[in-house]
Amino acid sequence: MDHFSSNLLAEIRDKFAFVEDCPFVGKRIFFENAGGALTLKSVVETSSKFAAIPDNQGRANTASKALMEIIQEAKKDAAKLFGATTGQFFVGESGTELLFRLVRNAATSAKVGGNIVGSSFEHPATRSAAKYWAAQTGRQYINVQHENNNGNVTAQLYSEIVNRDTRLVTILHASPVTGISVDLEAISKAVNSIAPEALIIVDGVQYAAHGGIKIDHYKIDGYAISPYKMYSRHGYGFAWVSDRLTQMSHEQLLDGPIESWELGTRDTGSYATISDVVKYLEWLGGKIENSESRSVKLSNAAKAIAAQEIALTELMIHGEDNIKGLKDLKGIEIIGGQKNPDRKGLVSFRINGTSSHLLVDFLNEKGIRTHVRKADHYSGNILDPLGWEDCVRVSVCHYNSSEEIKSFLLALNEFQVDASIGQVNSN
Ligand SMILES: Cc1ncc(COP(=O)(O)O)c(C=O)c1O
Repeated sequence: MDHFSSNLLAEIRDKFAFVEDCPFVGKRIFFENAGGALTLKSVVETSSKFAAIPDNQGRANTASKALMEIIQEAKKDAAKLFGATTGQFFVGESGTELLFRLVRNAATSAKVGGNIVGSSFEHPATRSAAKYWAAQTGRQYINVQHENNNGNVTAQLYSEIVNRDTRLVTILHASPVTGISVDLEAISKAVNSIAPEALIIVDGVQYAAHGGIKIDHYKIDGYAISPYKMYSRHGYGFAWVSDRLTQMSHEQLLDGPIESWELGTRDTGSYATISDVVKYLEWLGGKIENSESRSVKLSNAAKAIAAQEIALTELMIHGEDNIKGLKDLKGIEIIGGQKNPDRKGLVSFRINGTSSHLLVDFLNEKGIRTHVRKADHYSGNILDPLGWEDCVRVSVCHYNSSEEIKSFLLALNEFQVDASIGQVNSN
């Protein structure tokens, strides 16, 4: 059953583009949200509006001033969204580019020597950046091995590796392969208690659409998201950086304002779409409880999103009435286990003895879009230790419905029946 009433879910779905139809193939159910969430219709409108405006920022004319005010407003909106009362926000090319930039600047401005710590749990964005800049700055890179059983990494595991010489630590807030999140507050506090000078850079790309980010609760120096995974669009990344890292030397234009992290002309439209995301979440929070407080509305939206996603993933795993859940399918194995309180809207699994490619193709033909994760440079860090070649990733968002999950389960049942009588082929 959905957490949202059917009326509210219909209102939510109406806020997004291409909910039930793909412009290329027609009707489909979208369970590829970890690859890119649906886009708000307001974001589409805003993007086209700003794409048509020729004016640049920093000019003495009304249009230019208006653009700069929109950017300032978006930064204030982002501060509410991220729960940040310090630091600042800036845009970049992508989540990966921003994480590289944050890691690069942290590694080159930290005190020389020491080591850099990251975890096998991470996406290659932070892992590649941290390993590359460890080598470039002559530091040892030390790995915190994640837990296969739970599909994540803990504060305790970081504490066993971080030492007083640690200069930089990278953390992934939630994995796009396992779907499991970490206790960022606990990990950052643990790191800080051992190595107070260590700079901490966090990849929030997968977490952002599902959680409720609380920067003030973490002791970190950088947090990056990819707006296309948080109801906005492709074409830019969005990051928060701490005052501590800003005050250290970082890349910027010669003689420019010392606090600036922006490099070059900004796309006002990208900032304005962040405001659209915040407006949407406040609207959703306002549907849950009447409140004048923006923070209360955003917090209520985050709780409601989590509740709907838990309802969907529980239904996916356990089934309902005579519809079998994943756990009832022969040969099923779920990364992170059936019961995992840290799961964030994503279930990755395999049916032992069956190709995940075949299954994803079958679902595609049924109009259900999921994704295969292979043991390649993106997912090998998670799949190799499990001894898996691939898995099927089903990633949901709060706008998905229990009806869609049931269609997926019915299709899976059909797949198993077909497979058991040898009728499935790869066509
Ligand atoms: C956790 C995580 N980090 C980083 C990235 C890279 O983000 P971008 O595509 O914006 O570079 C992804 C994309 O899948 C991701 O899931």
